[in-house]
Amino acid sequence: MLRVEGLHAGYGPLEILHGISLEVPAGSLVALLGANGAGKTTLMRTLMGLLPTRSGRILFADQEIQRAGVERRVRLGLALVPEGRELFPSLSVRENLLMGAFGRRGRAAIESDIERVLAYFPALKARLSLPAASLSGGEGQMLAIGRALMGQPRLLLIDELSQGLAPAIVESVLAVLLRLNRQEGLTMLLVEQNARKALKVANLAYVLQSGSLVLQGRPAELAANPIIQQLYLGGEASAEAPEDAGTGQVSLVSGGPAISNGAEEEGGNG
Ligand SMILES: Nc1ncnc2c1ncn2[C@@H]1O[C@H](COP(=O)(O)OP(=O)(O)OP(=O)(O)O)[C@@H](O)[C@H]1O
Ligand SMILES: [Mg+2]
Repeated sequence: MLRVEGLHAGYGPLEILHGISLEVPAGSLVALLGANGAGKTTLMRTLMGLLPTRSGRILFADQEIQRAGVERRVRLGLALVPEGRELFPSLSVRENLLMGAFGRRGRAAIESDIERVLAYFPALKARLSLPAASLSGGEGQMLAIGRALMGQPRLLLIDELSQGLAPAIVESVLAVLLRLNRQEGLTMLLVEQNARKALKVANLAYVLQSGSLVLQGRPAELAANPIIQQLYLGGEASAEAPEDAGTGQVSLVSGGPAISNGAEEEGGNG
C-alpha cells in the first residue's frame, strides 16, 4: 500500500533522513521503533507531506506522492495522528472531529462517521460539546485518532500512541486500533516508545537509528534479537518470543550504521 524508496528529508540545511526505504503492505500493522531523535516524527511528517521530500520516492496506492500536498495525500487516504496530538484546544470535541472531515462532502456520511468514532471511543460521547482542552490525556489521544478516522483513511500513521498515557489507557486504545486493523482492514504505521507493546501487535517492524533504517523483520524475530532486547526491551529476553527466533526473518538493512545483527555476531555492537 505504501512504498518508500531512498527517502531524504530534513530541516533547513540539516538532513535528518538519509535514504529510507520501507514498505507497509495493505492490511498490515507496521511498527516503527527508534530512540529519541532517530527521525521517526520527521519520517511521519514527510510521509504526510508536512515536510518536503528532498529526494527519493513515496508510492501510495500506486501513485507517486512525494511532491503532492497534504490535501491530496488526505484525499488519497493518508491520515496522521501527530505526536503530541495537536488538537484544537478551544474547539469542542465534535468540532475537532469535524476538522478531520475537512474537504469531505455529504453531511449524512460525516454524521455517521462521527457515530462510528463514538462507538469505538464511547468515552468521548459525554464530552462531545466540551472543549478539547478539558479532556484527559487518554481522551485526547482517542480524539486525535477519531479525528484522523474522520478522513476515512486507508493508511493511518500514528506517532507516539502511548505518550503520557497510563498503561490501562494504552491497552484500551490499542485494542481499538487492533479491531480497526484486524476487522476493518485499516493499514497502520505505528510509532511507539513501548517496543514490547508495539512488537506484540505488529506484523512487521522497522528500527530507525540516526535517520537510517538499521533492522527490519517480523516482530517475534526482532524481539528475540539481543540488540533489540538491550536497546528497547530493557535487556531481558521477551517472554513472548519463540525459542527459535532470532535467525531467519530479521535482516540488517544494508548500509545501515552502528547496530549490527547481534544474533550472528557476538559482541558486534561494541
Ligand atoms: N523543526 C526542526 N528543526 C530542526 N531540527 C529538528 C526539527 N525537528 C526535529 N529536529 C531534529 O531532527 C532529529 C530527528 O527528530 P525527530 O523528532 O524526527 O525524532 P523522533 O525519532 O521522532 O524522536 P522522539 O522519539 O523524541 O519523538 C533530531 O535530531 C531533532 O533534533
Ligand atoms: Mg517523535
